[in-house]
Amino acid sequence: MVERYRPLRFSRAGVRGLKVSATLTINDRVKEMWATGQNVYHLAFGESRFPVHPKIAEALCANVQKRSYLPAAGLMELRRAIAGHYRRAFGMDVEPDQVVTGPGSKSLIFATVLCLGEEIIIPRPSWVTYAPQVQLLGKPITWVPTYPEDQYLVRTEILEEALQTSHHEMGNPEVLILNNPDNPTGTMRTPEQNQSLAEFARGQELMVISDEIYARTAFRNIPFVSMGALYPEGTVVTGGLSKDLSLGGWRIGVAIVPPTKAGRALAKALTNVAANLWSCVAAPVQYAAMVAYSGDPDIEEYVQMCTRMHSIRTRFLYQVMDRLGVQCVEPSGAFYIFPCFDKWSEALQARGIHTDEELALHLLEKYEIAALPGSVFYALRRYCLRVSSSFIDMNTNEKAEGLVEAFRQDPDPERFIRDHHPRIQKVAERWGEFMADLTS
Ligand SMILES: Cc1ncc(COP(=O)(O)O)c(C=O)c1O
Repeated sequence: MVERYRPLRFSRAGVRGLKVSATLTINDRVKEMWATGQNVYHLAFGESRFPVHPKIAEALCANVQKRSYLPAAGLMELRRAIAGHYRRAFGMDVEPDQVVTGPGSKSLIFATVLCLGEEIIIPRPSWVTYAPQVQLLGKPITWVPTYPEDQYLVRTEILEEALQTSHHEMGNPEVLILNNPDNPTGTMRTPEQNQSLAEFARGQELMVISDEIYARTAFRNIPFVSMGALYPEGTVVTGGLSKDLSLGGWRIGVAIVPPTKAGRALAKALTNVAANLWSCVAAPVQYAAMVAYSGDPDIEEYVQMCTRMHSIRTRFLYQVMDRLGVQCVEPSGAFYIFPCFDKWSEALQARGIHTDEELALHLLEKYEIAALPGSVFYALRRYCLRVSSSFIDMNTNEKAEGLVEAFRQDPDPERFIRDHHPRIQKVAERWGEFMADLTS
């Protein structure tokens, strides 16, 4: 019998089409396993977990009595501090009236997609949220494939091809969403690649939403350059404190609009969305964010140290894959790798594993390894996984604090892993067992 939802009738806009993601399937299974006391090596969680910097924690506590609604775009002092940060850190020419804050950059990306363009271009694989946001808004998507041979970077020729097909089939794709460094692949564009992408976008008059939430978790083997510095008139940069200062749950994000008349009109439109959807970022968080964006040398040093630890932990997992002969692009930022097991398709199928979701469940049930299927990220290949380093050996606050302390005393990467990461070493063995079983 067809189940009827009366008196709830879902609208055609987006909501009906949203699927229960495989992320939830894996996370539910992890929770079940934990509840029965089973061990899980959790590589599915994408959340930076280092402790709150004491100066920021102090600022939050000191402002706990600030309980009034604040301006929708954010306090002017905060927007001033954010503009200063983007000038210092990324050489962007930003004035405070180009800054809009929101409860996480996720909401600001949604608000920007709401305000700009009718058709949206998204590379794939890509972060889980872009496509559902665009679908919720009922806008069509043009997908641009990216490949491991190109480090999953958007190639302008492929972009051009996708645009032409799309012009032909749909009309006029106008907004390109980019992510650098990238979730799920951990890759990063070089300054030259950024430059050619910026020139391409300028030539095509494409608007760019440049999601730079991982900008300060770039590992520094490649210098980070903001799209906002290269193509200021056409780029909306989004960012926040969720990744570099591990403040995801505090919900503070920023959007930097272009320094043009149109950019300022967009800032007004975003502020209007903010006023009608979330009113403002929580008041104490805004005051604490002022300290986070102040350029305080202790906080800047802490961001760099956390990034260094992310880099060591993530690169360790990459090296495990590399040693096992698994195709995996070397990460340059964030805390992810994106290994692909297509080389073993036959062996996987012989074991009854036909999809990446089945692969993820197999790894969980048999090897206690939790990773996310690549299809969650719109992967083009069959057997990719997103593996995150952010949770393992840091599952409690005490362990996270212990790691920071240990790294302060001895920042040697090898000893840092060997002496303070028992579980990451163990999971390396489990990957080895999986590969040995697969190839036997
Ligand atoms: C690529 C990417 N963009 C944006 C976000 C959202 O960050 P927030 O809303 O916490 O600023 C995330 C968080 O997982 C992410 O991975």
